[in-house]
Amino acid sequence: MKITIAIDGYSSTGKSTVAKQLADWLEYIYVDTGAMYRAVTLYAMREGLISDGFFDKESLIKKLDEVEITFVKNSSTGKADVCLNGENVESYIRTLEVSSFVSPIATVSEVRAKLVEQQQRMGEAKGIVMDGRDIGTVVFPNAELKIFMTASAEERAKRRYNELLERGDAVTYESVLSNVIERDTIDTTREDSPLVKAADAIEIDNTETNVEDQFHTILQLAKDRIAKR
Ligand code: DC
Repeated sequence: MKITIAIDGYSSTGKSTVAKQLADWLEYIYVDTGAMYRAVTLYAMREGLISDGFFDKESLIKKLDEVEITFVKNSSTGKADVCLNGENVESYIRTLEVSSFVSPIATVSEVRAKLVEQQQRMGEAKGIVMDGRDIGTVVFPNAELKIFMTASAEERAKRRYNELLERGDAVTYESVLSNVIERDTIDTTREDSPLVKAADAIEIDNTETNVEDQFHTILQLAKDRIAKR
């Protein structure tokens, strides 16, 4: 019997790495919901709705019907790449610029309602691992397994900084750390669906845990839940 697995937590806690590993092992669908919010942010940037650090919320809401987010399998990485109105935008959505606008855009209730509805449809048949901020609390409150991931802000910034450097982005560690801290604040204090640990979620702090050990811990939890179905 298939289950629903919700993985929530702070930015750069390795949610997508473990979610992808789990989905591969269990042969489940994997959905990175952060990529969906990032694609909407890219749309707003391209439409000129963001300038001087502010975004035109009303225009974005009016244009939301023109935004179509889909996923396409990338044959070289095996991951699902996010598409914005049919264009694969995976390589444009992880920049520090998108990262600095995505949290404010994710506070807009109309944006959330649109994406949450799509996410719920994707999970109707179960057999899904979804990662984000509100998966265990809002998208799938009845998920059989909920994980809440944390790690220190410094460790998370170090991981994101190394990722950006590898991609060839010219960033400083300090700018990445301040973005991580700012996003934590916006994500946890917004009115609609703030980042909060669901009462029945299992918290995993991976500041010092290696990726392999963490995967095996979570896989065991998933196997236990599947056996109980
Ligand atoms: O997981 P990520 O860092 O790619 O997510 C980018 C932003 O999107 C994050 O700062 C908050 C927002 N987000 C959200 O509000 N709800 C989700 N389910 C996923 C992401």
